[in-house]
Amino acid sequence: MKRRLSALLAALLLTASMPIVSLAQEPAPAAEAGKAPGAAPESGRGAEAAEAGSAGTEHATPHYPLKKPPHMSWSFAGPFGHWDLGQLQRGLKIYKEVCSACHSMNLVSFRNLTALGYSDAQVRALAAEYQVTDPAPNAQGEMFQRPGIPADRLPAPFPNPEAAAAALGGAHPPDLSLIAKARAVERGFPYFVFDIFTQYAEGGPDYIHGLLTGYGQTPPEHTTIAPGTHYNPYFISGPALAMAQPLTDGQVTFDDGAPQTVDQYARDVAAFLMWAAEPHLVARKATGFVVMIFLIGFAVMLYLVKKRIWAATPH
Ligand code: HEC
Repeated sequence: MKRRLSALLAALLLTASMPIVSLAQEPAPAAEAGKAPGAAPESGRGAEAAEAGSAGTEHATPHYPLKKPPHMSWSFAGPFGHWDLGQLQRGLKIYKEVCSACHSMNLVSFRNLTALGYSDAQVRALAAEYQVTDPAPNAQGEMFQRPGIPADRLPAPFPNPEAAAAALGGAHPPDLSLIAKARAVERGFPYFVFDIFTQYAEGGPDYIHGLLTGYGQTPPEHTTIAPGTHYNPYFISGPALAMAQPLTDGQVTFDDGAPQTVDQYARDVAAFLMWAAEPHLVARKATGFVVMIFLIGFAVMLYLVKKRIWAATPH
C-alpha cells in the first residue's frame, strides 16, 4: 500500500517536473542568440532583456507588461473574503463621476446595485437621474426617452464602439462589466503553482490598480511611444495605451473619510469592477468551503467503511 502510494507520488512529481526541465532549457539558446550578431528579436524575455539589450544595437522584443502589478490586499481575497460595501460604493462613485465618461458597463443593471448596500428607494432615485431610451417604441412607433428605472442597464456614454473610437482618437474604451475577469497578468512558473495554495485569484483587480496608478513614469530607453498614447509599464499589451491618466488626487469626494488619492481611487474602483465581474464571488467561496469540509468528512467515512467491509478478507 505504502509502496504503491510512493510510486504514484513519484510518477506525479515526474510529470510535474517535465515543464520545469523544458523551461530551464529554453533560455539557453535564446541567450546565445542574443550574443550572435543580428539576433532574432523574439528571443527577448521580459523588460530585463530589453534593458540588457540596450548596450548593443539590437533590441529584443520586450515582454508585456513591462512591470508586474503589485499585489494589493483585497477584502474579498481568500476563502473567507467578503465585500467591503463602503469600498464598493466609493468605487461606483468613481465609475459614475470619472470612468463612465468613456466606458460603458452594459451588463450591470441599476437593480443590481442593491448588492452594494443601497435600498430600493435609493436605487430608484439613482436610476431616475438618467434619461434612457425605452427599448420599445411608443404607440406612434417612435423610440422615446424616459427617466431610468431599476431594470435599466447603466447607460453607455456612446451608442457603439465605433462612435467611441471616433470621439476618442481611434481607440475604443472597452466595456468594464467583465474587465476584472478579462485581464490578468500571466504569473509564470513557479508562481502559478504557489497560487493554488495561497488561493491567489486577484490578478484582475491587481492589474486594474497597477494600470491606474502606473502613469507618469519615464519610459526606458528605446521605447517607442505611438502618438496619442500614454506610457504605462503595467499595460498588458504594449508600452503605452490610448487612455490618458484618468484619475488625479482629490478628483472624487468621499464622505466616509477614505483618503482621496489616486491609489485609494484605484483600489476602490478595481474592487467595484471585481464585484461587477463576479457579483457572487463571496457566496461561491462560502459554499465552496462548506463543500470542501463535507468532501473531506465524506472521504474519511468512505475510508473507514472500506476498512470495515474488507476487514475479514485476508490480503
Ligand atoms: C477619456 C476617456 C477615458 C476615461 C475617462 C477612462 N478611460 Fe479607460 N480607457 C479609455 C480608452 C480609449 C481605452 C483603450 C486604451 C487602449 O486600448 O489603448 C481605455 C482602456 C481601459 C482599460 C483596459 C486596459 C487594457 O488592459 O486593455 C481599463 C481597465 C480602463 N480603461 C479602466 C478605466 C477606469 C477604471 C477608468 C475610471 C477611473 C477609466 N478607464 C477612465 C478611455 C478612458
